[in-house]
Amino acid sequence: MTALEFSFDQLLTDDAYQEPLIAGGVRCHGGYIDGEYVSPRGAVRRPAIVAWRERLAVGGAPLIYVPDKYVPPNYPNYPQAKFLLQEGVIEPVTRALTIISIVEGFGARIREVQVPNLGAEVKEDVAGTALAHLAGGLFEAHARDEAGHRDQGGHKQMWEAARDMGLSKPHVPGDVLLRLMTGTVRGERQRQFPALSERMESMITMMANVLIVETFAEDTFAWAKRLLGDPEVCADAERAAHVIDCVARDEKPHVDYLSVALSELRARTLVGEGGREFAGSEVVDAIFRNQLRGMATQRPRQSRERLQQEIHQCIDDAARASAIARRFESLDSGWTFPHRDDEELDVLLTAA
Ligand SMILES: [Fe+2]
Ligand SMILES: [Fe+2]
Repeated sequence: MTALEFSFDQLLTDDAYQEPLIAGGVRCHGGYIDGEYVSPRGAVRRPAIVAWRERLAVGGAPLIYVPDKYVPPNYPNYPQAKFLLQEGVIEPVTRALTIISIVEGFGARIREVQVPNLGAEVKEDVAGTALAHLAGGLFEAHARDEAGHRDQGGHKQMWEAARDMGLSKPHVPGDVLLRLMTGTVRGERQRQFPALSERMESMITMMANVLIVETFAEDTFAWAKRLLGDPEVCADAERAAHVIDCVARDEKPHVDYLSVALSELRARTLVGEGGREFAGSEVVDAIFRNQLRGMATQRPRQSRERLQQEIHQCIDDAARASAIARRFESLDSGWTFPHRDDEELDVLLTAA
């Protein structure tokens, strides 16, 4: 029988690397085996996720995911960013890459998610599932991958290194974080299922949110690899693109464990106040759809508004700024969410 139960330490165990990953002089997580990059903390975590997913498939439960048509393209797109670099307008691209590194670092917040009392709030058994290992190593491994741990850089530091290699250590404006924080103020989150415990709803919301961010990131990686890997506009292009490729590979277990754990919850019954029961699929799907619609529509709009302002701010000559902004806009690939506000999102499932 395949093992389905693992200790915290097991889930954080690295493979036996022959060589570490050094990016821009920074020692990062992961390493090389026979010349091939291998992601961190995967020796047990990787096969564990496969085993939990197989168990889900055997039980006939589908796997939740974000279909491609809901993934907005990275903004700015590759021709837009390349155009700015060719014009010597580096700062908006530096800002865009720095924002990605900051958002990666925020990923460490996943370790603060309070897992509800699964024994009391999930009707069926959860032993031997990804769900049962969230607090037992999966969230911690994820947090370390994103923000780094002790002497090893994580995705935050890897994006910074790739940016500095590609753009030759550009000046990084001091207000990137501040602008990011002031641009994303959101009101109190409305409860969708107030009869469930706050912890249960918050955990599902956070997991759905992170799964969507991770899926959207796939397009960002493709964009960054192309841009930072373009020797016409970037220095150390090959190396910069390689570091982004390492980050992209590290994200796979995140997408995988989150979709497995959310799908395990979908296949069960959630128990709320006074013993009231909800089908897990009803709760997870409603929260997932709500988050997906919000993020797929807000984020592209915010990036577009931010970039347009930044182009004007970093070019002193108003006429030149307008000309560059116009050309920049003309390269926009355009994208709108494929459903009107009153339309249901497609069922986001595939066979596990
Ligand atoms: Fe990441
Ligand atoms: Fe991630």
